[in-house]
Amino acid sequence: MLANYQETQGKLMLCPSILSADFAKLGEAVALVQEHADVIHVDVMDGHYVPNLTLGPPIVGAIKPWSKKLPLDVHLMVAEPMQWLEAFAGAGADTLVIHAEACAHTLRALQQIEDLGCTPGIAINPGTSLSVIEECLPYVDMVLLMTVNPGFGGQSYIPSMTDKIRRLRVMLDQLDHPVHLQIDGGVNEDNIAELYAAGADMIVVGSSVYAKPDPVAALKTLRAACEE
Ligand code: DX5
Ligand code: ZN
Repeated sequence: MLANYQETQGKLMLCPSILSADFAKLGEAVALVQEHADVIHVDVMDGHYVPNLTLGPPIVGAIKPWSKKLPLDVHLMVAEPMQWLEAFAGAGADTLVIHAEACAHTLRALQQIEDLGCTPGIAINPGTSLSVIEECLPYVDMVLLMTVNPGFGGQSYIPSMTDKIRRLRVMLDQLDHPVHLQIDGGVNEDNIAELYAAGADMIVVGSSVYAKPDPVAALKTLRAACEE
């Protein structure tokens, strides 16, 4: 469990997703936001669990030295995530987030993530019920709610997910340890304040940061929207 994940409990953590950055300049993209973000979100897609291919452990290892202050939050959108945990931990992942739908033995996988020295998280797709992860909650430090169907950046937020955020927040607040609620997909300067108020405290922002001409200014605008 990472100390800074505990210290920041309840505070807004902005998690820029490098999926929308220039893949030829990933190191620079990661370095650019070090003073303005809280976590670097890394989207791993295998072409099986989601209909897109992105990056693997060598890229995580390559960007690690560029993230001098911020943890690397690795979102595994892969079939059979247990096959990859050791490789991503070895490459420098700080959090490892597995999809409940992709893993037959979630508690075993979450324990393996802890054993590898990483922070364990569990993710679910928009169409997956919260009840699917209920038994996992004592074993995670974060839950990732997909607020678009995973696979691509730049999609529109699914409005019915706001009620799901509220319901999950209630579930998490009943636990005897703090668990971050991360949302991922379709967040922008117009909806971030409402979603933060609904109970999301780790907020992934891809195209609303890296597809903008000035990613640092975009992060400042997003944070300011939540602090108003
Ligand atoms: C989508 C990925 C997201 C993506 C979000 O499957 O998990 O992290 O980068 O991108 P935006 O913020 O543009 O929706
Ligand atoms: Zn993601």
